[in-house]
Amino acid sequence: MSWLLSFWRSSIGGKVTMAVTGLMLFGFVVVHMLGNLQFLFAEPEKINSYAKMLHDLGPLLWVARIGLLSVFALHVTTAIRLSRANRSARPVAYQRPGTVQASMASRSMVLSGFSVLGFVIYHLLHFTLEVPAITPEFEAQVKIGEEFTKNVHSMVKTSFDNWYIVSAYAVFQVILFLHLSHGMQSLAQTLGLQHKRYTPIIKLTSFGLALVIAGGNMLIALSVKLDRFLPDLGLVG
Ligand code: HEM
Repeated sequence: MSWLLSFWRSSIGGKVTMAVTGLMLFGFVVVHMLGNLQFLFAEPEKINSYAKMLHDLGPLLWVARIGLLSVFALHVTTAIRLSRANRSARPVAYQRPGTVQASMASRSMVLSGFSVLGFVIYHLLHFTLEVPAITPEFEAQVKIGEEFTKNVHSMVKTSFDNWYIVSAYAVFQVILFLHLSHGMQSLAQTLGLQHKRYTPIIKLTSFGLALVIAGGNMLIALSVKLDRFLPDLGLVG
């Protein structure tokens, strides 16, 4: 176990931990967005049945939740450790302009990373714990087959009918976009993919993937309001 801790404490170990946990969190964000897209262009039963299927996993869902939380905690603590180590290893200012730019990017990663953490806490209080102060009242239960289950469709629809909530989610998607797009470029660096020919492709791919994810979430957040202006689209069921 101690070799694992020594590896984590080493500079390369920290970078590998960031890359592996970052990829896992990225996977979660993609799957979560794809699941949530069922809110669009579909009857309420679609997303409600999906949520019921997840809740019906019972203990397995808790295993997944604890796993996700551990990966998230490891990602955040490693980021803090690496950023502290970077700062203490650099008592004097950079001499080369390129390194200043790199340092700005990594500092903005810490800042956007903490914003993502803040959002996730808010998001859990909002949609998972349904704290009354931040979750608008919604039709709590819906019948699917013979059973009653959480009415996720009503919860999302009522929430995104509120401009404050829409704005909070929209602003966060911009931050998420920056974090994911920078994060994927750092991952490529850790993997040693630094070459004059590959760098522009990596930048474009990171930008595109981050745009699809943040854009998909943004569309969901704006959908209820958009549906008012463009009802013929049938954006929200
Ligand atoms: C517009 C975008 C999003 C929507 C509509 C959305 C929707 C939801 C809903 C409805 C739940 C609760 C599900 C339930 O109780 O059955 C949930 C949980 C969650 N969401 Fe999101 N989400 C969005 C974006 C995100 C993003 C960007 C992240 C991460 C950065 C995220 C992380 C989570 C986590 C960690 C949970 C808890 C999962 C669990 O308890 O099993 N969500 N989300």
